[in-house]
Amino acid sequence: MVLGSSPPPEGGGSARLDPIVVDQEMDAAGAGDYHLQGTFSVTSSVFAYRVENGRTYHRYRDGSYYLPNDEPERERLDIIHHLYLLLLDGKLFLAPITYPKRVLDLGCGTGIWGIAMADRYEHAEITGVDLSPIQPPEVPPNFFAQVDDVESDWTFRDNYFDFIFSRHLAQSIRDWQRYLMQMFRHCTPGGYIELSEHALDLHSDDGSYHDGLALWRYMMLLCEAERKAGLDPGICQQLGGLVRRAGFVDVRVTVRKLPWAPWPKEPKLKELGQWSLLSLSTRALDAYAMALFTRHFGMPAEEVKELCDAAEREVWNKKVHVYQLHYVVTARKPVASP
Ligand SMILES: C[S@@+](CC[C@H](N)C(=O)[O-])C[C@H]1O[C@@H](n2cnc3c(N)ncnc32)[C@H](O)[C@@H]1O
Repeated sequence: MVLGSSPPPEGGGSARLDPIVVDQEMDAAGAGDYHLQGTFSVTSSVFAYRVENGRTYHRYRDGSYYLPNDEPERERLDIIHHLYLLLLDGKLFLAPITYPKRVLDLGCGTGIWGIAMADRYEHAEITGVDLSPIQPPEVPPNFFAQVDDVESDWTFRDNYFDFIFSRHLAQSIRDWQRYLMQMFRHCTPGGYIELSEHALDLHSDDGSYHDGLALWRYMMLLCEAERKAGLDPGICQQLGGLVRRAGFVDVRVTVRKLPWAPWPKEPKLKELGQWSLLSLSTRALDAYAMALFTRHFGMPAEEVKELCDAAEREVWNKKVHVYQLHYVVTARKPVASP
């Protein structure tokens, strides 16, 4: 994994990878940290989940997914849904589809994307699958949530879904080739898939992200712990190639920069940064680190918390200009498929 430099985008795509210009006026207007306002709430759950170090985790296939499913995490997922909408210029997806009929949302989380799809395409049937039953009780009549493991054999009919969507599952999927083969099998000929993921590594264009930061240490440990957990922290950069290998065609990879705070001068990037910072305030760094660092390194929970707090303080510092790369891969199953 390369830290501190931007990998070239794979394939075609409309990557906007110019250096991001820092808003110097904002820097000058009072040193120190950002101020955010706003409240977000989601329905609380009554399920008896695994409780560990102050967070709750899914019970079905206990331990296979390392992020929590509690209220702060659900808030984070709903916030980043809005962040993704902003990143994609208000679009729910980039695949060139006009009227989907059967849509599969893999690892649907709170169901926020699937529910939005169900509202927009009233005659479509949207199926969401997740390890956690964290979708709201009231959903549109054409949205169906199932508790299941998407890494198990799928029981759907072959050639069934005309659109299969998989967002923010880089921390979930261990065998991407098998996962993509299942997508291929259950996608209708001529149907589309879309993978939407942000790469785990951080970057800065001005050297403000460096190995002296707690944030740097946090990210290094996160990558190492993911490898110990059987995940590939560098998977995003490989997705285009893996999708082609699974048999899909018209593979298009779009890469965009996602700032972690409102330091950019450009208004849209600044707004993205505001949403990122808001998502960070839902204990996001803790969500990624707590189970992994305690389970795989035996690190005491208090030490994990201290590292997360130190890393988060750096993101809030206006002098630190970090961003991530977000990848969207769209592809079509050929009409004449074996
Ligand atoms: C980071 S969240 C993304 C949620 C949603 N896709 C979104 O973009 O809002 C990942 C979700 O995948 C689910 N998940 C992880 N591993 C899974 C698996 N093997 N099978 C089904 N769901 C899984 C988690 O429970 C979690 O809700």
